Amino acid sequence: MRQIVLTADRPSGKLHLGHYVGSLANRVQLQEEHQQYMMVADVQALTDNFEHPETVAKNVLEVTRDYLAVGIDPEKTTIFIQSQVPELTEMTVYYLNFVTLARLERNPTVKAEIAQKGFDKAIPMGFLCYPVSQTADITAFKTDLVPVGEDQLPMIELSNEIVRRFNRTYQTKVLKEATPLVGKVGRLAGLDGKEKASKSLNNAIFLSDSSEEIKRKVFSMFTDPAHLKVSDPGLVEGNVVFTYLDAFHSDKEEVAALKERYRLGGLGDTEIKGILNTTLQAFLEPIRERRAGLKEKDLRGILSEGMRAARTVACATLQEMREVMHLRY
Ligand code: TRP
Repeated sequence: MRQIVLTADRPSGKLHLGHYVGSLANRVQLQEEHQQYMMVADVQALTDNFEHPETVAKNVLEVTRDYLAVGIDPEKTTIFIQSQVPELTEMTVYYLNFVTLARLERNPTVKAEIAQKGFDKAIPMGFLCYPVSQTADITAFKTDLVPVGEDQLPMIELSNEIVRRFNRTYQTKVLKEATPLVGKVGRLAGLDGKEKASKSLNNAIFLSDSSEEIKRKVFSMFTDPAHLKVSDPGLVEGNVVFTYLDAFHSDKEEVAALKERYRLGGLGDTEIKGILNTTLQAFLEPIRERRAGLKEKDLRGILSEGMRAARTVACATLQEMREVMHLRY
């Protein structure tokens, strides 16, 4: 059944292969089956970057560029910027009535972020309340499905709680509860063998990396430190080269054969990295070219088209809300 899907990212810079495996690949599929909204969460990004608005603004365009480069099709997916839909802000204000300070302080994801960002002593309200603004993002479009990582589950739970309270209080069915879609898709390991590829750990391959950067990164990948000579048997588990081959090589049988050879001894790191390099170059070249070929004017055109479509829907929901809240003057 065709459903309404909402995805969102805080723009924190160019996207990497970890984002592709973790969410973008899934969204490219989802747009075929569902009505998908993809929001660039700049308002949320400002809650912990309000002193650097220029960085947030720049990242919004980078992320949009990456979306389009991997195959998000603006004819099928509505891509828009959070701050361009003011209806979301108004909804947030109404939702704040349905949540207590204690409830917000209990959110484990927000709690961890507060500690990590050193906000413990003075928590900005904007930051503490971002899960409420997320409720607006979700409900404005009468969203059915929200594809998220595990860390976002507390947000969806809170959102549904607010929905129930609002509907019960005003005796209405205007708002809809959403179901989180926790992907089967995994995480991609970092180049250094760390559990997660991330920009801050500087262990990721970006969708925008040049051919030379990709090659340099592939040849710097963590393999099996005990695999010294070509003839030595090598470990495939925990070997980043194989993790990436599993994720990006199209021929599973060939990968299985390579693993076997590596395990037995006789397959050197240089050869296997060469194979991965070829695989990733072939995967990333068209993405990089599409990315570079997108004119800023066209990006802005797509985003303003998205804004118009998103606002139309959000505005209709907001009207229904105002109706039941007796805000009809
Ligand atoms: N908090 C999400 C993140 O950090 C981004 C986000 C904003 C979001 N609004 C949302 C996610 C609504 C799901 C639904 O990635």
